[in-house]
Amino acid sequence: MENLWKGDQRMARLAEPYKIKSVEPLRMTTRAERAEAMRQAGYNTFLLRSKDVYIDLLTDSGTNAMSQAQWSALMLGDEAYSGSESFFRFEAAVQEVYGMPYVVPTHQGRGAEHILSQILIHQGDVVPGNMYFTTTREHQELAGGRFVDVIIDEAHDSQNVHPFKGNVDLAKLEQAIVEAGPEHVPYVSVALTVNMAGGQPVSLENLRAVRSLCDKYGVKIYMDATRAVENAFFVQEREPGNEGRSIREIFLEQLSYADGCTVSAKKDAIVNIGGFLATRDEETFEAAKELLVVFEGFPHYGGLAGRDMEALAVGIHEMIEDSYIRHRVLQVRGLGDRLLAAGVPIVQPVGGHGVFLDAKRFLSHLDQEQMPAQALAAALYVDAGVRGMERGVVSSGRDHATGENHHPKLELVRLTIPRRVYTESHMDVVADSVVHLYGQRSEIPGLQFVFEPKRLRFFTARFEPLRPSPVFEA
Ligand code: F0G
Repeated sequence: MENLWKGDQRMARLAEPYKIKSVEPLRMTTRAERAEAMRQAGYNTFLLRSKDVYIDLLTDSGTNAMSQAQWSALMLGDEAYSGSESFFRFEAAVQEVYGMPYVVPTHQGRGAEHILSQILIHQGDVVPGNMYFTTTREHQELAGGRFVDVIIDEAHDSQNVHPFKGNVDLAKLEQAIVEAGPEHVPYVSVALTVNMAGGQPVSLENLRAVRSLCDKYGVKIYMDATRAVENAFFVQEREPGNEGRSIREIFLEQLSYADGCTVSAKKDAIVNIGGFLATRDEETFEAAKELLVVFEGFPHYGGLAGRDMEALAVGIHEMIEDSYIRHRVLQVRGLGDRLLAAGVPIVQPVGGHGVFLDAKRFLSHLDQEQMPAQALAAALYVDAGVRGMERGVVSSGRDHATGENHHPKLELVRLTIPRRVYTESHMDVVADSVVHLYGQRSEIPGLQFVFEPKRLRFFTARFEPLRPSPVFEA
């Protein structure tokens, strides 16, 4: 078995390395019910009620299935306000697996981003990063910083099959540091994997080069290690010399190039809530604890219950099991392969946490201002009750200075696969529906805003179709 897996990138699916002990029933809906639900949700999949969703691929965040060991650990939760044993178990897990000495729990990833940004970023600073993420950039900007994209050009091209499309472009990074002046670059933000590029990985070689460039200018590196296990899998699979190494070992090496990291534990760590900031720097740790008591909670819980920290401590060890992560990434790839075989345009190579439909090419009759990815996500829900998420012009927001929409090169619908939740039959339903819609693509109309919030608008915006269309009808 072991040999079969190694290096076989195009291998079809693997059977699940777990069996089902507890089930959550799904509600089947009629097309008429879904058309009405979508209309009421303002054509925004975030605004659907989950009871109306059959297969929920909105996100892999907090939607994962915990193991029997994690459920058992909940009972051990020490709910003491301070000095909780659960905190110390969680802290030890982070120290061991991430290799960082100082650990601050937060309610989720953006809690850690908030604290870090407020401590390190000053008005007028520049924060280079390998592509923006919505909440990360928002916190950098709220703290007075400006995000500068330094990812390689290949990342913006959905058809480029570069094996490490998340890599930092060293020339762009050096230019950003020199232009701002190193003293105005509080840190470089390196995401493992890159969510908005399609879950694309960063190579160890690139991380080493980024580290030495940052050392040259005395600039720190803070990683967004939210899907770093998936990144480690791609390194093991694709980067020469890493075939025989364990995920645990690669994972630790990745993090060794960082001064610290922020983590949304709702992804890698296979839990429903949680996050943390970890660092090697005692001064940052002390400053973080001061802000933590204002915004999150006492440093021994940071917005989490003791039981949450227990589940997290177990999940942090389960996430780096080779058989688990291999199945997780290959399940995602299996869905991508089925769509590719039918000619559906998707981001290639398929990344770690989901399949991203290329809405620009899928709906080539629409202009980006007509929000093709938002329209495609809405149509997919009406077709089969599958919920995806827009990751394009709507998510990208407006330029604060000009008020114009950002026009990201990637206009995508993300079909994110929760960990250990759906079977291969569910994946078949998703593939069949996307292929069916691809046949009807010319019928899908664009959308326009009827309500547009100022910040992170994709969460709560409402839309209407530009013309009546059978894809939105009962
Ligand atoms: N960084 C990355 C790369 C993320 O994907 C997320 C969340 C965060 C930070 C923020 O973490 O949600 O725990 O506050 N991504 C979710 C998603 C929302 O669906 O991709 P959070």
